This record gives sequence, structure tokens and C-alpha cells, in this order.
Amino acid sequence: MTAGRVDYASLSAGQQLAVKYFVVAMALFLAQMLFGLLAAWQFLDPEFLFGIVDFNVNRMVHINAMVVWLLYGFIGSIFWLVEDEAGVPLVGCKLANITFWVLTVAVAIVVVVYLVVQSGPGDKWTLWFINEGREYIEAPRWADIGIVLCMGAIFYNVAGTFVRGKWSGIAGVLVLDLIALAGLYFAGMFYTTNLPLDQYWWWWVIHLWVEATWEVMVGCIMAWGLMKTLATPRRIVTTWLYIEVALMFGSGILGLGHHYFWIGTPEYWLGVGGFFSALEPIPLVAMVVHAVYDAGRHSFRSNNHPALAWLIAHAFGNFLGAGVWGFMQTLPQINLYTHGTQWSSSHGHLAFFGAYVTIIVAFIYIAIQKLRGDVWMSADLRGGWRWKWSLALLHVGMVGMTIALLIAGYEQSFVERAVGGSTWAAYFEGQTQPWFVEAMWWRMGFGVLMTAGLVILLVDLLRIGADETRTSKSLDR
Ligand code: HEM
Ligand code: HEM
Ligand SMILES: [Fe+2]
Repeated sequence: MTAGRVDYASLSAGQQLAVKYFVVAMALFLAQMLFGLLAAWQFLDPEFLFGIVDFNVNRMVHINAMVVWLLYGFIGSIFWLVEDEAGVPLVGCKLANITFWVLTVAVAIVVVVYLVVQSGPGDKWTLWFINEGREYIEAPRWADIGIVLCMGAIFYNVAGTFVRGKWSGIAGVLVLDLIALAGLYFAGMFYTTNLPLDQYWWWWVIHLWVEATWEVMVGCIMAWGLMKTLATPRRIVTTWLYIEVALMFGSGILGLGHHYFWIGTPEYWLGVGGFFSALEPIPLVAMVVHAVYDAGRHSFRSNNHPALAWLIAHAFGNFLGAGVWGFMQTLPQINLYTHGTQWSSSHGHLAFFGAYVTIIVAFIYIAIQKLRGDVWMSADLRGGWRWKWSLALLHVGMVGMTIALLIAGYEQSFVERAVGGSTWAAYFEGQTQPWFVEAMWWRMGFGVLMTAGLVILLVDLLRIGADETRTSKSLDR
């Protein structure tokens, strides 16, 4: 094994599979950005590509690509760490490879159908074969069933490997979380023509994924990542993991109520949702303390600087995007005014980026270090400007976009909601004010900045360590 040279053959079966998942994830990340740019441009020039790729389609592809690539990132990370954690080779390797291809072809077909059939009546047939019409999980029913089957197969690979090898605290939490994550998806397939009922179940997938099962998933990945990049003792990361899981589920499950304020559910949800969701930032604070304390104890010394930087970005991004930006609008007294404005979008962008994009990028850097023969990735790395610039551009772009959307949301809350009384006319009035229109331009500009950052990131992922011959002095455990 030579440092700096790509050595795919030396990876274990699970890790080779992980690389495939990461490649598709990054391709979809780029697609997500491009469709985001199109959708953002249509805010400024509504006629742009009208009838060719409509706004609703751009938006749908933008957020579906996001959900799918983040899931690919998680699956890749799990396949990367499962054999190391269990101490035995992957169980059901062949099946795992078949699953990867089936899933990837299915995703491609779903997207092509989205783009080919953009409008028309909706009925049972379109529900099964074109579009289910539920934001974030629009995939048609046939794909839903396929996804659940693939998740079952992946579950078998992961749980089977732990069963054959050894269990650990991380392994136990991970396996239980996978059951919950896949099980919740069923709630999104429950079709009814009663809109409040439909929304009621739909939120089980959306909220309970991102604010419960996905958070626990990244807790597991983070625990393993901290052991690898900082050599934090297993005892410490496992203890933290248990605390975080308890807090996360304790607040996140009933925190679901913050989506039940205005959809026709009983009034007690105002109190339940307001109270429990207000507690949700607590585990996120615990995560920041955990990561920063561990990094500080090791004087921020690590054999993988880009991974450590992205792990720290994750800790703060999760806290700010989910904890602070979520908290700002979670009390019903405030949400009455902010609901349905760009506040949600401001929070949605910062939370998904801060909590999930960051940790997956960190993990990919951990993987790449090994893929390149345990190459040097610390101080004065050759070509080190790339990871720093991409990190900076992506973050400046994301924070700028978040602030622009927040300003637009503030203005809507005042003009459309507080002053205009949420009438139809006020809705349009809110979107023609200069504060709103200018914010949309700023969002566009920062989106271009982010896309530049992503392009540099992708180049870096292909090139990092290529000009190095030094190996990392391993700090593992
Ligand atoms: C990583 C975790 C999180 C992610 C990815 C996330 C993402 C999102 C997204 C995308 C939406 C918009 C949903 C829609 O299309 O209507 C949303 C809504 C919301 N989020 Fe979060 N969120 C997270 C955590 C939190 C936390 C911890 C809180 C509370 C402390 C919170 C409070 C809210 C509220 C109140 C809304 C509803 C806004 C409205 O409809 O008026 N979120 N979230
Ligand atoms: C080039 C950068 C990006 C641009 C220009 C962009 C633009 C947009 C636009 C125009 C929308 C539709 C908003 C609306 O319906 O009012 C949207 C929605 C959304 N985007 Fe992005 N986006 C970008 C990057 C990202 C990233 C990196 C993420 C997360 C990882 C993300 C997550 C979301 C989410 C969750 C929504 C739905 C928000 C909601 O309904 O509240 N976007 N984006
Ligand atoms: Fe939520």
C-alpha cells in the first residue's frame, strides 16, 4: 500500500460498497444544487423555463435529491464502519451489491419520470407510477415498496454482521435506530383523501426522521468518527451516545406536535408541541459540548484535518440550524406569524446542511484517507487550500442564504401576517416588498457561492492526498 495512491482493492467489501454509495451521494448533491439554483432563479424570473421544467418540479427534484443523497451518505457510512465495529467481514456481500444497483436504478427512473411527466390529473395510477404528491417523499408507490425492500436487505447486512461478530453500544443503538427509521417510512405510504389525516401521518416520516432517527444515526456515526479522528476512548463516546439518544427521543417524539398546530388536529397539540419541541435544543447542546470538549482535550490534534473541521462544523451547524433556528419559530405564539413564510426555508436549509451535509462530508474524508493508503492529511498538506476554500465557500454561502431567507421571512410575518391578516391579497403584498425581493437576489448570489464551494469540494475529494507520499501517524484508539 503506497500513501497517496488510490488503493480500492485493499478496502474491505463493506468499504468498497461504501465508496459506491458516496460517489452517487456526491453526484446527487451536485444535482440538488443545480435544481436549487434553477428554482431560486424562477423566484426572480417566473417565466424562466416555464412549461419546460416548472418551479414545482425543480423544487421537488431539489429536495428529493437531498433526501436521497443524505440517505446514501448514511448507508455508505454504515457500510464503512460496520466491519470495523463488528470485527468480522460483511454478511451478505452479494445481496448488498445487488441492493445498491437496484436502489440506484430505481432512483434514476423516479427522477426521469418526474421530469418527463410534470403535470396532469392525479389518480390512483399516478400515485403508483408517477408521483405520490407528498413533499420530500414524492416517490411513487412502486418505488416506496422497492425502497422498503432495499432497506430490509441493508438491515440484514448490518444486523447480520453484528450478530456474527461482536456487539457494542454503538452497534446496538445503530441497529435499533435502523428499525425505527425504516419502520417510519410506512407512515408515509398511508394514503387517505382526508387532508389533516394525511398530513398527520406524513409528518411522522418527515419530523420523526430528521428530529429523531436521523439525529440518532448521526450520533452513532459521530461517536465512531471521534474515535477515529481524535482517538477518543470508546467508553466516553458510548456514554455520550446514550445520553444523547435519551434526550433526543425524550424531546423529539412529542416535539412532533409543532407541526400539528394548524392542520386541523386537536388543540392540545399547541401545548404538547410547544413544550416538548422547546426542549429539543438540549441534546443538540450536549452534542456540541461533547465534540468540542473531546477535540479540546486532544488540543485539536488529529491525523485528518478536513474530517475534524467538518465534524466541528457539524456540531455547531446542528445546534444553530436545528436547535436555534428551529427554536425561534417553535412556540405556537410565534409560529402563528412565521408559519408558511421563508422562516421555514431559512431553518430548513441551515438545519439540513448543518446537521447532515457536514457529518457526511466529514465521513467521506475519513474514508478517503484510507482509500489513499492512510495518507497524510494534517498540517501543510499539499493542495490543502482546496478543502479549506470549499469549506469556507460552502459555509459562507449557506449562512448568507439563511440570513437572506430569514429577512424575507421577517418581512412576510409582518406584512402578510401581522398587518395584512393572512389574506390572499396580503400573501402577494408580502412578496412584492423590496425586503423580500432583494432577499431573493441575495439567496441567488449566495447559492452561486455555495455551488462554487461544492465544485471545489468535489475536485478535492478526487485529488486530496494525491501529491503526498507521507503516511499519517495513526492515532487510532
Ligand atoms: C436536523 C434537524 C432538523 C431539520 C433537518 C429540520 C428541518 C425542517 C424543515 C425542512 C422544515 C420545513 C418543513 C416543511 O416543508 O413545511 C422544518 C419545519 C420546522 N422545524 Fe425543523 N428541522 C430540524 C430540527 C428542528 C428542531 C430541533 C426544532 C425546534 C426546536 C424545529 C422546529 C421546526 C418548526 C417549528 C417547524 C415548522 C415551521 C412551520 O411550518 O411553521 N426543527 N424543519
Ligand atoms: C445552490 C444552493 C441552493 C439554492 C439556490 C436553493 C434554493 C432553494 C429554493 C428556491 C427552494 C424552494 C423554496 C420555496 O419553496 O420557497 C429550496 C427549498 C429547500 N432547499 Fe434549497 N437551495 C440550495 C441548497 C440547499 C441545500 C445545500 C440544502 C440542504 C442540504 C437545501 C435544502 C432545502 C430544503 C429542505 C428545502 C425545502 C424548504 C421548505 O420547504 O421549508 N437547499 N431551496
Ligand atoms: Fe419538526
